[in-house]
Amino acid sequence: MQDSFPIRKVDHIRHYVGNARQSAYYYQHVFGFNIVGYNGLETGQRDKVDYVLAQDQLRLVFTAAIVPDHPLSKLVAKHGDFVQDIAFEVDDVDWSYKTAISRGAESAYEPVTLEDDDGKVRTAGIKTYGRTIHTMLNRDRFEGRFLPGYRDMNEPGDPIGLIEVDHCVGNVELGQMNVWVKWYQDVLGFKQLISFDDKDISTEYTALMSKVMSNGNGRVKFPINEPAPGKKRSQIDEFLDFFGGAGCQHVAMRTDDIVHTVSRLQARGLQFLVVPRAYYEELPKRVGKIDEDIGELSQLGILVDRDDEGYLLQIFTKPITDRPTLFYEIIHRKGAKSFGKGNFKALFEAIEREQALRGTL
Ligand code: FE2
Repeated sequence: MQDSFPIRKVDHIRHYVGNARQSAYYYQHVFGFNIVGYNGLETGQRDKVDYVLAQDQLRLVFTAAIVPDHPLSKLVAKHGDFVQDIAFEVDDVDWSYKTAISRGAESAYEPVTLEDDDGKVRTAGIKTYGRTIHTMLNRDRFEGRFLPGYRDMNEPGDPIGLIEVDHCVGNVELGQMNVWVKWYQDVLGFKQLISFDDKDISTEYTALMSKVMSNGNGRVKFPINEPAPGKKRSQIDEFLDFFGGAGCQHVAMRTDDIVHTVSRLQARGLQFLVVPRAYYEELPKRVGKIDEDIGELSQLGILVDRDDEGYLLQIFTKPITDRPTLFYEIIHRKGAKSFGKGNFKALFEAIEREQALRGTL
């Protein structure tokens, strides 16, 4: 079938933060990213600063205001550090922007050409849930590393095998999941891959609903969650309260060697959610034969799930910000294209234990 809104891939994920230099240092030293680009006072940008970090095909940008009363710092004051832009690389920015607007998208910013000695990049932005936007850019006529105006930096991290963005999850308010599902269908031509209702995703105490949307070429996958009524407050309610509305809850980064990646992250002090030992006792029965040593997975806390096409391994960090909002997933796919439904219960019980410690359950 014809792709009604061609998107090549997620180009980068921009975070608005309070202190971009320290965020860059954290992602460099914990996740092993290389710091490859910078834009700030030294490059003529007077009111904010941007650091660009890369690991294989993953690119993260950290942006902070450097003057009082910048609109960006008002957003950070309200939401804390957050994912502000999930940017796409597209073939034709003007066509994409015009088409998205004609299909009902709200403009974040109009098409503009950025230019320096390395060439030109056309870019435009549309608004999605909460404060999040989707930049659409094309750098086919650009020789530089990221965007015009940025200076190259070479501050290598120690990479740990992260390859690309697997999916980005949005948490939206009660009743809004289907609104945003329809938006991704109508505006960006996404298809719904999977739907989970509150019977799929519930524990004794809390529940949520989720639909997974995917773009035409299958490279961009966005699960969208909303809270469902339960006996206690769900993790989605907790997110919405502390974030102050809808926003990006987690980014899943793909690796081809999860044992290596997670061992390195744990050695560097990154904290992950922990499931009970019983999870690993039931694992062989649930997923059958796998290549990895279950003892090793158990030691690291890595979860496994199987679907018709294969299996996947995954693990979730605790929130990486002071607020219980943004966290990361590390995912290793061995044939499976799904999202770990068999792990939902163990995972959400682990989150509830953390919520109980925070007094937010
Ligand atoms: Fe995920």
